[in-house]
Amino acid sequence: MTPYAHIVGWGKCVPERALTNDELSEMVDTSDEWILARTGIQERRIVGEEETTLSMSLHAAQQALEVAHLRPNQLDLIVIATVTPDHLFPATSCLLQDALGATRAAAFDLSAGCTGFVYGLGIASHLLIAGVYRTALVIGAETLSRITDWQDRATCVLFGDGAGAVILQAGENEGGILATVLGADGSGGELLHLPAGGSRYPASHRTVAEGMHYIQMRGREVFRFAVRKMPAATQEVLQKAGLSIADVNLLIPHQANQRIIEAATRALDLPPERVYSNLHRYGNTSSASIPLALCEAADEGRIQPGDLMVCVGFGAGLTWGAAAIRWTRPQPVPTPPLRRFLRRLLYLLATTRSRLRKAWRWLNALLTRDPMAKDGRKEQ
Ligand code: ACO
Repeated sequence: MTPYAHIVGWGKCVPERALTNDELSEMVDTSDEWILARTGIQERRIVGEEETTLSMSLHAAQQALEVAHLRPNQLDLIVIATVTPDHLFPATSCLLQDALGATRAAAFDLSAGCTGFVYGLGIASHLLIAGVYRTALVIGAETLSRITDWQDRATCVLFGDGAGAVILQAGENEGGILATVLGADGSGGELLHLPAGGSRYPASHRTVAEGMHYIQMRGREVFRFAVRKMPAATQEVLQKAGLSIADVNLLIPHQANQRIIEAATRALDLPPERVYSNLHRYGNTSSASIPLALCEAADEGRIQPGDLMVCVGFGAGLTWGAAAIRWTRPQPVPTPPLRRFLRRLLYLLATTRSRLRKAWRWLNALLTRDPMAKDGRKEQ
């Protein structure tokens, strides 16, 4: 029997703080009219001091596990797509593995710009279909506000923070991720990049003084690339799945600019009601944008069992990707209070376990004789 990779759970997290266009126009030379007309964005969410990519991923993952009726120790794999990890290393997905108590899971981060979540879906679904793993958590999460130059009106009006998660599970019933296409063209890497902070330009007085730790973008060229690639990737993935645009019930495009979404919709000859957009509320949240939209579409009942959905993205790299998905999960029923309490207990246990492991490591280092020190004594 051919195994399939189904979406069985989903969850999201957005910061409470909404930053409106009017507030932005007090910070830089812009206006609500300009932002709305050129992008379709009305407001975006911005993290508080204590929030990070990890904290938002944790909330989104806990929700997704609840919808899927799964425990963290049933996860085999955790993938976080992000360009704003908590640290360059360790991977944010490893920190999440610990925070969730997903003791059996392998974990890694991936960087594919705004296409990251679609890349994650592609890789994880193939590992499931190949029989390597049974259950995978795929997250798109970003804290773009921490790498945004709040004095640059060309970029600061576009971006926001958030996280979206799905759980994929292998199953024998037909459906789930039917096909994916992933692509890259590094010759366009400089069109959208964060120049410093890596090994090419490590942090220095110069990189800070020259604003090299902020997103830099050639907006018009990215726009042209997106308008070309989104319809092309959608057509390609449908062809790979043996389907056509007429079969699509809902298109979930990367939420970067309403004009890009509308141009893609026109090029594909899709009625606007079959295209999902929540860009006006969140702005461009990079790899979080597609899973955030997917979660809201699922919660609003815009996707029903049997529906065909296409997720399509483009982003830094340059990268692009699309996934054709046959939805198989009915609307979840609310979790009873006792079950919710037990879940909270499970996460409390995960925190305790993590602290105990850290304490044990510390104690072990204290009690174990240092082999280097012994060698040193020998030489004297
Ligand atoms: N408020 C007022 N005026 C502005 C603003 C602003 N916030 N930003 C730019 N302008 C001005 C420019 O200075 C320019 O003025 P000029 O004509 O006097 O020189 C004018 O508006 C037009 O600027 P353009 O850059 O040509 O505006 P455009 O219509 O292309 O819109 C935008 C700019 C919104 C950035 C658009 O190009 C776009 O959405 N591009 C795609 C960006 C994108 O999707 N990026 C994310 C990729 S995904 C990822 O991996 C993160």
